[in-house]
Amino acid sequence: MRRRIIAGNWKMNKTPSEAVALVNELKNLVNNPEVDVVYCVPAIDIVPVCEAVKGTNVKVGAENMYIEDKGAYTGEISPDMLVDAGVSYVIIGHSERREYFGEDDEFLNLKVKKAIEKGLTPILCCGESLEQRELGITMDWIRMQIKSGLAGVDKKDVANMVIAYEPIWAIGTGKTATSDQAQEVCKGIRDCISEMYDKETSESVRIQYGGSMNAGNAKELLSKPDIDGGLIGGASLKAEFGDIVNA
Ligand code: 13P
Repeated sequence: MRRRIIAGNWKMNKTPSEAVALVNELKNLVNNPEVDVVYCVPAIDIVPVCEAVKGTNVKVGAENMYIEDKGAYTGEISPDMLVDAGVSYVIIGHSERREYFGEDDEFLNLKVKKAIEKGLTPILCCGESLEQRELGITMDWIRMQIKSGLAGVDKKDVANMVIAYEPIWAIGTGKTATSDQAQEVCKGIRDCISEMYDKETSESVRIQYGGSMNAGNAKELLSKPDIDGGLIGGASLKAEFGDIVNA
């Protein structure tokens, strides 16, 4: 049985002091020992949030990282810095990074490998645009993202990682994929991993849905057999996040 994982992606929200206030506000609401709870927070919030979650069930994630250990890469953050600060997860290849910062599958594959090398758990994101969905190429596109993103990654590492399926048209739009649409793609991802590796690996990897997930639709989405959790944007910034964790 795969353990559920509910992660908040705070995106570019919350100053350090606001971040600590949010952690404290959510503390008792997300205290569910049956679920892995993760806050993926802006880089500048990582240190205070790691401090604020001490002694709770919450783990901290980064929203991004660079592929080198150190050096002249102005503005970047290394995986060693994240690990030293107490980070356990890192989001890789969110559609906003792909779209606004030109991150491609090849580069993201390097990030996945680097994160694993350093002991961070990657949350590798994939997802189709509305145009791709309407063209009927959703699963072709997702399979390409998964195959490129995981190229050369060992099966034991794939088994321990997290994949987030986030249809781009559902992100921040209030339009959630139906639970059947989300299940279909999450199962497709698992089948793809089974073909690339084996059934055991595909049964172990955890697959999240993300895109306008909220307290109202979480239970239905999470009832599907291949949806093991959620990656939540807007609703992770308020008390509602606790309802999703407990859904
Ligand atoms: P929303 O929940 O705001 O739609 O964002 C989803 C997302 O992009 C999480 O990574």
